[in-house]
Amino acid sequence: MKLSAFFEEDRLAVDAALDRLLPAETIQPVSIHTAMRYSVFAGGKRMRPILCLETARIFSSDLSPALHPACALEFIHTYSLIHDDLPALDNDDLRRGKPTCHKKFGEALAILAGDGLLTLAFETIGATPVPAERRAAILTEVAGAAGTVNGMVGGQVADIEAERKAVDEKMLEYIHRAKTAALIRASVTAGALCAGAGAEDVGRLRRFGETIGWAFQVTDDILDVEESSAALGKTAGKDLAQQKATYPAVYGLERSHQIASELATKAIAELSPYAERAARLREIAEFLVLRRT
Ligand code: IPE
Ligand code: IPE
Ligand code: MG
Ligand code: MG
Ligand code: MG
Repeated sequence: MKLSAFFEEDRLAVDAALDRLLPAETIQPVSIHTAMRYSVFAGGKRMRPILCLETARIFSSDLSPALHPACALEFIHTYSLIHDDLPALDNDDLRRGKPTCHKKFGEALAILAGDGLLTLAFETIGATPVPAERRAAILTEVAGAAGTVNGMVGGQVADIEAERKAVDEKMLEYIHRAKTAALIRASVTAGALCAGAGAEDVGRLRRFGETIGWAFQVTDDILDVEESSAALGKTAGKDLAQQKATYPAVYGLERSHQIASELATKAIAELSPYAERAARLREIAEFLVLRRT
């Protein structure tokens, strides 16, 4: 799939900002800053920050304030991956094409590197150069999405508790929306809030983000079955081995592909009032379900 140049331009801007915001490896304690940087710069598609920036672009031509929430979302996402890979959760050795954080630095530092990234995310949002009400709104959105009630941590709990169990449709949906869609939704709404979007636009974009985030996790489950570890940069075939509650396990691959594409179509329909202004967001949404990594 050929990507437009803006994906790479955004990625470079995000990587430079991540580098500025992360404490240097020389700062004490050097071990944790080394571990945090290792996982953040191990690779990664940077889809959450790119969604944040490209949503902000609909409402403002100055994207520099949105780099703060964009990086904060990548810090939280990276923390969620470090903890997701721990032996007590998915027990993975490979992440972003490299040994997982706990394989490289040990479990104690991996847990603490996750804690450090989560905390740094909120410090980063607190320093966003926009009016205080916008900062507060972004904080509330992101904290909720990362939390236990319909948020990432809640979804991770349900995900591990559903292993080796028959789950119904409602629980499968809850897991996907909470563990993954919530942070993707917050990436979109944080970009909108940061750029001064009004309540109606934020509501519409929230629905877009939630739905495309759900499709994103259905696609992640499909790729776990269809792709190789080399292509994914993480261990393929893990979900079946761990008897995870996934869309392919419950509906089969063909129906899962259909569900992902129906969700993407529904998400993209929310963008119709923005016409050409949302061309990039539409392209990102298509990539999120057509990607092979
Ligand atoms: C993987 O997310 C974990 C999920 C929530 C599905 P990504 O596919 O965005 O992982 P990176 O950031 O590119 O490594
Ligand atoms: C990850 O779900 C969701 C997170 C919140 C990290 P997975 O366990 O399927 O993610 P991968 O496949 O390990 O990236
Ligand atoms: Mg997991
Ligand atoms: Mg996992
Ligand atoms: Mg997965």
